[in-house]
Amino acid sequence: MLRYGWVDETTTAFTQMARSNSSDRRVASLCCEVRRLDERREEDDGLSDTWRHELEAIREQAMASLALASDSKALNDWRVEVLGKKSALGQMSKAMGGLTPEDRRVLGEALNRIRQELEQAWRSRQAEIEAKEKALRLERERIDVTLPGRHVPLGAMHPISRVIEEIEDIFVSLGFSVVEGPEVETDHYNFELLNIPKDHPARDMQDTFYLTDEWLLRTHTSPMQVRTMERMRGRTPIRVIVPGRVYRRDEDDATHSHQFTQIEGLVVDEGIRMSDLKGTLEAFAKALFGPSQRVRLRPSYFPFTEPSCEVDLVCVSCGGSGCRMCKGTGWIEILGAGMVHPRVLDMSGYDSARYTGFAFGLGAERIAMLRYGISDIRMLYQNDLRFLRQFRHA
Ligand code: DAH
Repeated sequence: MLRYGWVDETTTAFTQMARSNSSDRRVASLCCEVRRLDERREEDDGLSDTWRHELEAIREQAMASLALASDSKALNDWRVEVLGKKSALGQMSKAMGGLTPEDRRVLGEALNRIRQELEQAWRSRQAEIEAKEKALRLERERIDVTLPGRHVPLGAMHPISRVIEEIEDIFVSLGFSVVEGPEVETDHYNFELLNIPKDHPARDMQDTFYLTDEWLLRTHTSPMQVRTMERMRGRTPIRVIVPGRVYRRDEDDATHSHQFTQIEGLVVDEGIRMSDLKGTLEAFAKALFGPSQRVRLRPSYFPFTEPSCEVDLVCVSCGGSGCRMCKGTGWIEILGAGMVHPRVLDMSGYDSARYTGFAFGLGAERIAMLRYGISDIRMLYQNDLRFLRQFRHA
């Protein structure tokens, strides 16, 4: 890019000629004279065209490559290449020794100017690049503290589980314990020991899934009455509730499901009477649905209780005045109950001449539906999050 021989071209060549012989010397100095006059004619700074072009070429080239330098390394390389000792400018400064004082002054001034100009350009380019690199670095190292936290979805208790826990709490506070039993049960416990022999018409109401002739999926939690009494071996008092899944060969509809949840209750002791049953269930109803609740007992039939009753609550929707939900009666049925049948007590090892007891069985789904105003039992099993999410804060 740079021709280091430029000094020779303009001056040194003539100087050498001047040294070689006298006539040449004269010619050469004349030529020098003419050239200088010629070249300096229009310029105030006294710079010859050749120098001017040369310096201009250096300046232009340097400015162009400076504009291309895009990082601090390129910028440093540029500085060494353009302003360093071995650069064209450096070489020129060095070669100035061979010039006349006047040329040296003129060229020296020009070199200083261009050097200053280039240094200035270098500084502003450096500031530019530094700012750009800093901005890049800041961008790269940026931590976005405004990112929203990662949402961990919290599960919620299923309405049936809620109801079971609530009911357990109420009965535990009345002195009951909570026990559980097998979902795969025998015909013997599910029916026979509950006074439902093979030919009993009550079996029709509880058709189920048979695994074999003897094993089946339990149709109710009542077999746990027998199992509990057997386990207690004649000891009293017995006060248990038994939550658990039960199965029936039902067509599913808005109020029936082939699998649902019952909570069984059993109390056995000496001197247990129907009024104990009523008082217990009334306390339960008040605890669950509010102090103004009352219960109503209607005669009914279950093979394993005598007498048997159906228990109603004051309608939770209309408060007793009669609405669609209670079919205008002001009452809604919530469970079946009765005094434990003497034959069941005897078969389970409790002398019915000495002990009496009461039992009840309720559907947890029915309670949940009343409690939360759910119109279709199937919603409780479909795992639709839009439905379940409503119980998060319930
Ligand atoms: N096991 C009965 C059923 O599933 C409900 C029931 C009625 C349970 C009366 C009882 C009871 O303990 O005394 O339909």
